[in-house]
Amino acid sequence: MLEKMKRWTSTKEPDSLSQRINDCKNYKMPDHIAIIMDGNGRWANKRALPRVAGHHEGMKTVKPITRLASDLGVKALTLYAFSTENWVRPKMEVEFLMKLPEEFLGTFLPELIEENVQVQMMGDRDQVPSHTLIAVDQAIEKTAHNDGLVLNFALNYGSRNEMIQAIKAFSCDVKDGKVMPEELDDDLFGSYLMTPHLGDPDLLIRTSGEIRLSNFMLWQMAYTEFWFTDVLWPDFKEEHLVEAIEGFQKRSRRYGGLKSEDMT
Ligand code: FPP
Repeated sequence: MLEKMKRWTSTKEPDSLSQRINDCKNYKMPDHIAIIMDGNGRWANKRALPRVAGHHEGMKTVKPITRLASDLGVKALTLYAFSTENWVRPKMEVEFLMKLPEEFLGTFLPELIEENVQVQMMGDRDQVPSHTLIAVDQAIEKTAHNDGLVLNFALNYGSRNEMIQAIKAFSCDVKDGKVMPEELDDDLFGSYLMTPHLGDPDLLIRTSGEIRLSNFMLWQMAYTEFWFTDVLWPDFKEEHLVEAIEGFQKRSRRYGGLKSEDMT
């Protein structure tokens, strides 16, 4: 506790990144980090580049952030890569976004395999082009035996869609006599969602200064700690992830209860 207090009140110069990385390993690490990677378009606009150049740069950011999350012992990293609402964007932008997983995994998959990272995907596969699914499925298959960080891509993902699918599946199970409506509780409902094996995110990071959830893991984020930053996703570096984790480690998570010292 004393150590933690010292950390909060420290006024010394910021430590080097590697020192901060080592330091934060001594405190509670978020098991599951979810990121809304926002601001790619604005990053490109600021440089008079086409929006897709921002997405491409944003794809590059995923590598160091994944490496660091893995090094820190984070168990799951869920990245919002494409939402069920993103289809209304210009066709060319959508096509570009759907090619990014192939490019990313084409160069990064060997390292993911080597580094014990397990690739997963959540989202509605129906509209996703087959060339994207082939690349993602290959990565899922080749990393299935890894048991380190789960790198979970939310691709054609929308939380309302996920919940509606869950309710439909639950209703079918009720109709088939597999489950009784009275049995429905938080855990059972959660088991029909796309994330029961991951646990709820402990920390949500959204870049680019937007402060909203945009239909992202609404059920799972009931008690998630939120970290909003003005940094645009292509500019998001390791130090920003460390800063978010340091912020998380200072939070008091009470889940509707009280801190133990306030219980008496
Ligand atoms: C939102 O920024 C970002 C997206 C819709 C796409 C995010 C995708 C990536 C960062 C690449 C993912 C990489 C892999 C490997 C799949 P925006 O375009 O809405 O930005 P803006 O608000 O500034 O316009």
